[in-house]
Amino acid sequence: RENGWKAYGDICFYKGFWCYSYLLEGAIFAQDHYKAQPTDIFICSVPKSGTTWLKALTFSIVTRIQFNKSTTPLHTQNPHTCVPVLERYFSRKGIKPGPGSLPLMSTHMPYASLPKSIIDSGCKIVYICREPKDSFVSLGHYASKLRAGLQEPMSLEECFEFFCKGVSDYGPYWDHLLGYWKASLEQPEKILFLKYEDLIKDTPFYVKKIAEFMGYPFSLEEEKEGEIQEIVEFCSFGNMSNLEVSKTGKSADDNIGVDIKTFYRKGKVGDWKNYLTPEMIERLDKITKQKLGDSGLSFDEI
Ligand code: A3P
Repeated sequence: RENGWKAYGDICFYKGFWCYSYLLEGAIFAQDHYKAQPTDIFICSVPKSGTTWLKALTFSIVTRIQFNKSTTPLHTQNPHTCVPVLERYFSRKGIKPGPGSLPLMSTHMPYASLPKSIIDSGCKIVYICREPKDSFVSLGHYASKLRAGLQEPMSLEECFEFFCKGVSDYGPYWDHLLGYWKASLEQPEKILFLKYEDLIKDTPFYVKKIAEFMGYPFSLEEEKEGEIQEIVEFCSFGNMSNLEVSKTGKSADDNIGVDIKTFYRKGKVGDWKNYLTPEMIERLDKITKQKLGDSGLSFDEI
């Protein structure tokens, strides 16, 4: 247990990763009991990498036959409800899976800690990661939010020390990336490895690619009718963050649900430049270089 970590409850180290105590029971239960179906699709990420966005996109892709931009459940249910979190779903009774019987689920668990059935079944994984400095700044802001009555918020500097030591929810951060990266090289048909920065640069291209990968390709007719663009626009930061459900809702309908508005901050690439000191930048870049080494995974200078 890491006593100094103050954001959103206690954090403890369990079999290779840091996990909030309130989610650990669910994570262990899922590891032991979750029976993945070959048709399941898992949205996986380390927190603060663009999970909320990817959930909105994949949900919209998979449900586009039933719903359009006016009727999508994303108007009334946030992406974390629409694409439920495996370890939360198992840890808390009463948390409903998303609307309808969709194949989509999500988890922040590292690749090595996934339930065995997810690895062995033919199910697919869409993974998103983000340049570490931007991810850290996003996490630092998230961690600095005081959750009702429970803990004191954490400063960016305090959070930074933990992050560099590998202490962050579902961290060590770099191990998380590397686990999925290496698995995606071995099994490209099972794991689609995405970077937030690429998705920002050319969202329509990746929406098309994600849809094909998940087995929900767009027909030529859909493309002509602008279906991809419609999804891109609906799921954009500007639109999503302004939905009423994003302003008032919680990430789960229980007392530990996080205000959903904390999942929408700026949605920009390179915001670290506004927050990190030259020393912090140097230290994080050095760790990233050391950790990623010659894995082949790298991030463009931004
Ligand atoms: P910032 O804090 O840098 O703004 P996660 O969903 O994994 O917790 O990641 C949260 C980050 O994704 C936040 O980054 C948030 O603003 C950004 N984000 C949320 N929705 C987005 C969207 N529709 N488009 C782009 N970025 C989005």
